[in-house]
Amino acid sequence: MTEPTREQESTTAKDQSSPKRGAIQSGDKVRQMFDRIVPRYDLMNRVMTGGRDVAWRNIVARQAASRGDDVLDIATGTGDLAFAIRQAGAARVTGTDFSGEMIDAAKRKAPKHGPDVTFAIADALNLPFDDGSFDACTVAFGLRNMVDYDAALREMFRVLRPDGMAIVLEMTPFRRPILGPPFRLYFEKVVPLVGGVLSGDITAYRYLPSSVESFPPAHELAEMMQDAGFDDVTYQLLGFGTVAIHSGVHPA
Ligand SMILES: C[S@@+](CC[C@H](N)C(=O)[O-])C[C@H]1O[C@@H](n2cnc3c(N)ncnc32)[C@H](O)[C@@H]1O
Repeated sequence: MTEPTREQESTTAKDQSSPKRGAIQSGDKVRQMFDRIVPRYDLMNRVMTGGRDVAWRNIVARQAASRGDDVLDIATGTGDLAFAIRQAGAARVTGTDFSGEMIDAAKRKAPKHGPDVTFAIADALNLPFDDGSFDACTVAFGLRNMVDYDAALREMFRVLRPDGMAIVLEMTPFRRPILGPPFRLYFEKVVPLVGGVLSGDITAYRYLPSSVESFPPAHELAEMMQDAGFDDVTYQLLGFGTVAIHSGVHPA
């Protein structure tokens, strides 16, 4: 991908909607899938996005680090966002994921980034932290893979301090008329093929487009964040509208 287009959009409060389960029926299957694809996971991210994923995580990292010293990155995978947040100036960053293989990979990368980024295995739907423990809580390309989006947003809300910020970086269903067909061809045919060859796991990279298709569009995700209790929910679209960064603030 080349330079992203950016649109800053604000949302208005809407009626409470019914809880959104994730598209994923089994957390165990997702965990096993991510356990399997760890060895080529970072490489595949770079290839799929033409390296833009690094820039997107850096935007999130700067936002998160600006909120205070303690940041939690859930569904951290191999830890790239957690490392970027530390690099952006947060004093202490904790990365959690329910895949033991992902956490092991993150820990292998950690020595390069100093002692202030720590990792632990934890389910994002039941985080092992007290209420109000963090100044920011981030999730990158993780929410879409969870069995219950609303429950995950409520957990993010719970562990944040008043005035803390939740930031969600996620792929968003792509509905643009002209760019839609070529993007679909790329995402539904090329990505599974290349992902299958590089990772040896075509199922995982077939699952990717279907998980995005089932994920709520950006304006709906913003409403879900409001329903979880967040104020000042805004989002920006990046990557020609294929990716969204949402943020919301825990009321003081
Ligand atoms: C696509 S990867 C994203 C990893 C990383 N955040 C990144 O930016 O590359 C999705 C991650 O979400 C994790 N995940 C999915 N559901 C989870 C849950 N309920 N609790 C914790 N981690 C979860 C998976 O194990 C996987 O590592």
